[in-house]
Amino acid sequence: MSTSQTSTQIPPKYLREDELSDECKKLLLTLPKERGWLISDTYNYQGFWLSPRLLQGVIACQQQFQAHDSDIILATTPKSGTTWLKALLFVLVNRVKHPVFEQNHPLLVKNPHDLVPYLELTLYVDGQVPNFSSFTTPRLLSTHLPFASLPKSVQDSRTKLVYLCRNPKDIFISMWHFANDLRLDHTDTRSIEEMFELFCKGVSVFGPFWNHVLDYWKKSIEKPNQVFFVMYEEIKKQPEIQLKRLAEFLDCPFSVEEENSRVAEEILRMCSFENLSNLEVNINGKFSTGEANKSFFRKGEVGDWKNYFTIEMSEKLNDVIEQKFQGSGLRF
Ligand code: A3P
Repeated sequence: MSTSQTSTQIPPKYLREDELSDECKKLLLTLPKERGWLISDTYNYQGFWLSPRLLQGVIACQQQFQAHDSDIILATTPKSGTTWLKALLFVLVNRVKHPVFEQNHPLLVKNPHDLVPYLELTLYVDGQVPNFSSFTTPRLLSTHLPFASLPKSVQDSRTKLVYLCRNPKDIFISMWHFANDLRLDHTDTRSIEEMFELFCKGVSVFGPFWNHVLDYWKKSIEKPNQVFFVMYEEIKKQPEIQLKRLAEFLDCPFSVEEENSRVAEEILRMCSFENLSNLEVNINGKFSTGEANKSFFRKGEVGDWKNYFTIEMSEKLNDVIEQKFQGSGLRF
């Protein structure tokens, strides 16, 4: 996105530092602080990093959200491909109500983030109880919260969690671009080297990345019927296989009739980067918290990090990954 576009952009709600509650301001004074990716400072709350305004949404969500057993919650770290999986989930789960071949399908006129809203970033960002009356069952929701910081009702319920993971090198580059687009004070530049050092130290939005991934990974092994773990790269490589796995997990497998009419293929086509990024709503629309919808569609490729990383950066992150994921069974 060019500077002229960003300068007119309204900062997303979760980045605004005004309107913070007194409780939140007081708490911030007690939290460890580091230089932020998106705004001046980022704070460590319950072991993960977040912006001040987001803290308010996180606390409200943790205190107030009541999960239903039928809920489906997508959990990700930012830039894992959340937008893509939101689209896939919405179309997959709602395919009886909204057949995929329907001309006015909601995905064609709404951004995936409006169809599957974030708990802490959107619904609870004002610190108020949101109105869930317009939601149909199952409710489709999303979060960037680490597993241990999910509202207790989610951890105690039979809510299904879908976790999407992505190669951290691509996440870093994707976040780097996204942060540059969103950063409020454009004179406050951060070099890629500085952000990379922070990322390797674990300071990333909702990071450390490894803690986030490992907690959900372990839960997916412990409770495979409750936590589904999938990699962005796996969906890219074997889209139909992964979509069918997801459908089975969500108890809505494809019927023989659907197999014959190639519904899975059509879902993948509808949710493809090419299709979504060329929809009017995603070219000119705005996300409810203020970002331009198009900032969620950049390249949508595996391995773009190779265009940015030096050999030293790659080796350094390899070492961190090796150390953090050793023995977990996860490879990047
Ligand atoms: P890149 O910046 O590498 O292109 P999130 O949705 O979690 O914010 O992640 C955004 C990343 O997902 C961006 O990655 C974006 O281009 C990519 N993305 C968005 N829609 C996609 C789609 N339909 N298919 C594949 N990747 C997609």
